[in-house]
Amino acid sequence: ATTLGAAAAQSGRYFGTAIAASRLGDSTYSSIAAREFNMITAENEMKPDATEPQRGQFNFNAGDQIYNWATQRGLKVRGHTLAWHAQQPSWWGGLSGSGLRQAMIDHINGVMAHYKGKLAAWDVVNEAFNEDGSRRQSNLQATGNDWIEAAFRAARAADPSVKLCYNDYNIENWSYGKTQGVYRMIQDFKSRGVPIDCVGLQTHFTGGSSLPSNFQTTLSSFAALGVDVALTEVDVTNSSTSQYAGLTQACLNVPRCIGITVWGVRDSDSWRSNESPLLFDGGGNKKAAYTSVLNAL
Ligand code: XIL
Repeated sequence: ATTLGAAAAQSGRYFGTAIAASRLGDSTYSSIAAREFNMITAENEMKPDATEPQRGQFNFNAGDQIYNWATQRGLKVRGHTLAWHAQQPSWWGGLSGSGLRQAMIDHINGVMAHYKGKLAAWDVVNEAFNEDGSRRQSNLQATGNDWIEAAFRAARAADPSVKLCYNDYNIENWSYGKTQGVYRMIQDFKSRGVPIDCVGLQTHFTGGSSLPSNFQTTLSSFAALGVDVALTEVDVTNSSTSQYAGLTQACLNVPRCIGITVWGVRDSDSWRSNESPLLFDGGGNKKAAYTSVLNAL
């Protein structure tokens, strides 16, 4: 295969990227994206602040722009994200307790109704844990420890056909407290029948540290709980070829690792652009890391 998407498809997986609606008019950007990838995540356009800027007034213009661009080209779309401590609509700031909980549920219902039956997965809850494995203190957490399960139950009812994911960063190393905290939550949800289908490991690797040797153990351990796993926001400081090859191989070695998404197209498009962390340089040329991933797939 000569593209990332086609190479991943050889083993039944996908290879995706994050897309910014504002960049779609850039033909270098959009042609690389359409050629190489077969799964698309909106980088910001489906987040709560974007989709419900005023209470009950939903805005899907930018999200739909990405959705339509992708599906017109035969690419699938992951939804990102419904409930998060960051990028909240400003009006959530005026709410707390049961009022905020209801606003979150209404938000899930409103956004999921719009995209019902259209998406491959939703990141229902994003980044709800601290580094030590305890729950992150946020306005949502303050509504009660059951806020995550309430979000997943509402999501299942809103669209029974879409895969429901929990998504987080720094959960790649099996020995890490946060990984264990998320693992225990998934284990608990599975044991009590709380609906959850997948775990997204963001996989933002920093600092030139080597790939955690137990990364594959983390993927297989989550999968053994009965959920799919996916690498959802991959970027790697200076695009270390060994880390890119290693994370790709780890996913391929785990049957329930269903796909890999990099968090942008060119280095210049990245939220970490000063770290040159992606697979294409600012001119749209394939980097060495691209080849290391393609060869590993
Ligand atoms: C980032 C986007 O890339 C930026 O454009 C935005 O300013 C902030 O959010 N974890 C996530 C993503 O789940 O939504 C974040 O995306 C990166 C970290």
